[in-house]
Amino acid sequence: MVTTALRLTPLHPALGAEVAGVDLSAPLDAPTREALTRALAEHLALVFRGQSLTPAQYLVAASVFGPPMAQHYSQHNMPEEPLIGLIWHRNGQQPVEMWHTDHTNRERPPAATILYGVEIPSAGGGTSVANMRAAYQALDEAERRRLDGLTTFNSLERDRSDTRAEDQAKYGVPVEHPMVRTHPVHGSPAVYFHVTKATHISGMTPDASRAYMDDLIARMIRPEIVYHHAWRKGDVLVIDDRATMHRAHGDYDRSQSRVLWRVIVEGDRPRR
Ligand SMILES: [Fe+2]
Repeated sequence: MVTTALRLTPLHPALGAEVAGVDLSAPLDAPTREALTRALAEHLALVFRGQSLTPAQYLVAASVFGPPMAQHYSQHNMPEEPLIGLIWHRNGQQPVEMWHTDHTNRERPPAATILYGVEIPSAGGGTSVANMRAAYQALDEAERRRLDGLTTFNSLERDRSDTRAEDQAKYGVPVEHPMVRTHPVHGSPAVYFHVTKATHISGMTPDASRAYMDDLIARMIRPEIVYHHAWRKGDVLVIDDRATMHRAHGDYDRSQSRVLWRVIVEGDRPRR
């Protein structure tokens, strides 16, 4: 066991902190694990630089934030460690450029998405993370109250032709979630939905639901609440999925490689 004195340096006024003094390839003691759990709830995005991890070490490190869970587009999973998903355009997994939070079609969606930068293009290809706790606070009271009473019904995207039948059967069962969820560690509310996994909002047609969610994203996600992560090889970025949305940037030279290893870890069932 390694006892570490972790140091946190904020990366942006609204969210994000760089963690120094932690080697994720070594086992972490209970106080360090606890401190990281609290730091994630507080800062919503954590960055560890200069890590060097095997797939097995990476899974152990990720489990600090929760039990690693299966990812539903299983054709992109690493053959030797299927709990690690490969984000790699040459493997058919394009960067997702729309704002979203991961795997809302699960009853207990991920507490966190963890990304490890294995191959990084020379320019572009960053990941942006938005603080949806701050987004909620910035809404006027009438809209906060409205959102407090709404839920979404979530399923796997229907317009993806590459979904395997076994994944559709396992992960395509509709699940209802509140549009505002209370963070289980931090206790604060945050706006929570996935535009293309939500088939509709309670009491609204699919078209009206989509229009409202698109409008919310356009109004809520302003530069003041966004941390943009410019990748360096060896970075580990931990994103709190309970109070953020994220997106990738496809603005890199596709003749270069961008390979991120993704792990998602199971969280609680969202509740208002
Ligand atoms: Fe994602």
